[in-house]
Amino acid sequence: MGILKPLKIGELTARRPIVQGGMGVGISLSSLAGAVAKAGGIGIISTAQIGFREPDFEEDAQGANLRAIGRELKKAREISPEGIIGFNIMVATRNYAEYVKEAVKAGADIIISGAGLPVNLPEYVKGSKTRIAPIVSSVKSAMVICKMWDRKYHVAPDAVVVEGPLAGGHLGFSVEQLSELGADTDDVPKTYRRDEYDKEVKGIIALVKEYAAKYGRHIPVITAGGIYDHQDVMHQMELGVDGVQVATRFVTTEECDAPMAYKQAYIDAKKEDIVITKSPVGMPGRAIKNPFLRRVGAEKPVIDKCYKCLEKCNPAAIPYCITKALVNAARGNEDEALLFCGSNAYRATKIETVDAVMRELCGEC
Ligand SMILES: Cc1cc2nc3c(=O)[nH]c(=O)nc-3n(C[C@H](O)[C@H](O)[C@H](O)COP(=O)(O)O)c2cc1C
Repeated sequence: MGILKPLKIGELTARRPIVQGGMGVGISLSSLAGAVAKAGGIGIISTAQIGFREPDFEEDAQGANLRAIGRELKKAREISPEGIIGFNIMVATRNYAEYVKEAVKAGADIIISGAGLPVNLPEYVKGSKTRIAPIVSSVKSAMVICKMWDRKYHVAPDAVVVEGPLAGGHLGFSVEQLSELGADTDDVPKTYRRDEYDKEVKGIIALVKEYAAKYGRHIPVITAGGIYDHQDVMHQMELGVDGVQVATRFVTTEECDAPMAYKQAYIDAKKEDIVITKSPVGMPGRAIKNPFLRRVGAEKPVIDKCYKCLEKCNPAAIPYCITKALVNAARGNEDEALLFCGSNAYRATKIETVDAVMRELCGEC
């Protein structure tokens, strides 16, 4: 099918080399991940506050989240019994290891982990068939994780996801780096911006090849961030990657788990509405400037409850509670919500089906 080569990660083969990026809270759950897997890609469920619909979420968020992991995977498998389905688990999550172990127990095909370096991930999946892929943003972070896994666990990643400065959600760059790269300004020509990061991607491919040679197998490299159409996919393929990870483009699909108000916010957004903001996670994030973001910084919010979502968070010092802001988004309370998005969210003009998006990305229409 199609003109692109399938994506192979260990014994897993996706007939279309498209990984759907994990999106929390409640944006990529079973419906989206199942649909992407069914269409031949890799569907990824985000574990970020995955249990927000459970009746006991307010009292015991972690218990609700761990319970929801198995349920969401089961529902996704009902949509796509043969497809490849995994989880995105952020390293910054409090009790990260528990989430990984639960995902493995549920039978995840793959775990993709970023928002920090997943230094101990191999230990938590040991003895299982679950494949593991760290998310890196630079040659330096790729080197650190490959070296650590090699030394400590004598393993190499099953795949490496490279997330660039145009991605959505939390970004592995400083605010200064983001403006240096010109990701949000028009004063630097677009091609220059892309060329700049292309060099980093090529450096990561070269590094990953060294570890692939050492372990005697191919390690696929998957790039993410600002990949929106077939041309973007082809550009990445020309750099020598094995697959791409796409998130923003999937938000405005029928199958996406986000409420309609969230999808509409993408359709309504203009380029200048997409901004870089600081998050309690301690990393910059990209989001739509809405009434909520306009108030951030101007008002000190009352944080009357801690959901204990992050390993490191001081409720007295943060600009807002990230769980509350993201759960509001997932519940359709958009004016009180943090609306994460990638740099291309403004390109959405309509609601599409996952199948149509997959075909378009692969140049099959
Ligand atoms: C709404 C939204 C939520 C996201 N949530 C997460 C998340 O929970 N964990 C994570 O590692 N990445 C998260 N991301 C990043 C995506 O998985 C993906 O790598 C990135 O957005 C790709 O760029 P694109 O959106 O331009 O396609 C999120 C992105 C978006 C747009």
